[in-house]
Amino acid sequence: MKICRSIQELRDLRQSHGGKTCGFVPTMGALHAGHGELLKRSRTENQISVLSIFVNPTQFNNANDLTHYPKTWESDVALAESMGVDILFAPTPEEIYHDRYQYVLQEREFSKLLCGSDREGHFDGVLTVVLKLFQLVAPTRAYFGEKDFQQLSLIEGMAKAFFLPLQIVPVPTVRESDGLAMSSRNLRLTFEERKRAPKLYEVLKSAHDLIQAREQLSQLGFKVVYLEELRGRRFVAAFLGDVRLIDNIPWPKAEGVRRG
Ligand code: PAJ
Repeated sequence: MKICRSIQELRDLRQSHGGKTCGFVPTMGALHAGHGELLKRSRTENQISVLSIFVNPTQFNNANDLTHYPKTWESDVALAESMGVDILFAPTPEEIYHDRYQYVLQEREFSKLLCGSDREGHFDGVLTVVLKLFQLVAPTRAYFGEKDFQQLSLIEGMAKAFFLPLQIVPVPTVRESDGLAMSSRNLRLTFEERKRAPKLYEVLKSAHDLIQAREQLSQLGFKVVYLEELRGRRFVAAFLGDVRLIDNIPWPKAEGVRRG
């Protein structure tokens, strides 16, 4: 596995693999089995795989969240190696944002709902960095988790809107054995919070309606940010202590409906 820090190194490496199908998994590091699943799919479906690790400053609207974003470089490299990654791209913010974020890609509808409602500009940051990374890596296929379903939908929409010459591949949410959706942020939960965290998924699955779900989550000590049914899914974001958790599940009854 080659580790490259600069755009020029990445370009040289991609050129040396010219003509091969390329799978791409963009991440912010602190890798876990959820990321592992994306890498596995990429490895199976392409001749080479590129993993990027870049804690993207423009998608954090909370400086505290950015500072405390977990960093586990050594174990990330080991996991990438074990998953058969060919190129690990870990660029610097200076190189990615040489334009000082003067140019921004914005979606004006769906990005304002759900995770866009309390995190202003979040999806501008996500879409802008993902487009930059796509341009640099030039993948055949790019892999995204359903754990971040809204992000996945917006990236699919962007690829279609701008005729990007690649395929976006969705990967189902990977969960811990107790049902908690795997997330880098889970590392920041206290021992006691970690025990309570799986209730988020339980309530999402079992509550009859959103009012009941909201009540149950509040009783369990979650601070609900949003709880909505739309586009055939149920979505939730809630704080446990100062950690913001999100989850979503298919909810066929919510076809096109928006409530809560
Ligand atoms: P990050 O949170 O590191 O996630 C990288 C990818 O892994 C995303 O596609 C995410 O949906 C997927 N993923 C995370 N947890 C998962 C789980 N439990 N099951 C399945 N897939 C999971 O998402 C980002 O980084 C950033 O916004 C990024 C797209 C890299 C842009 O900066």
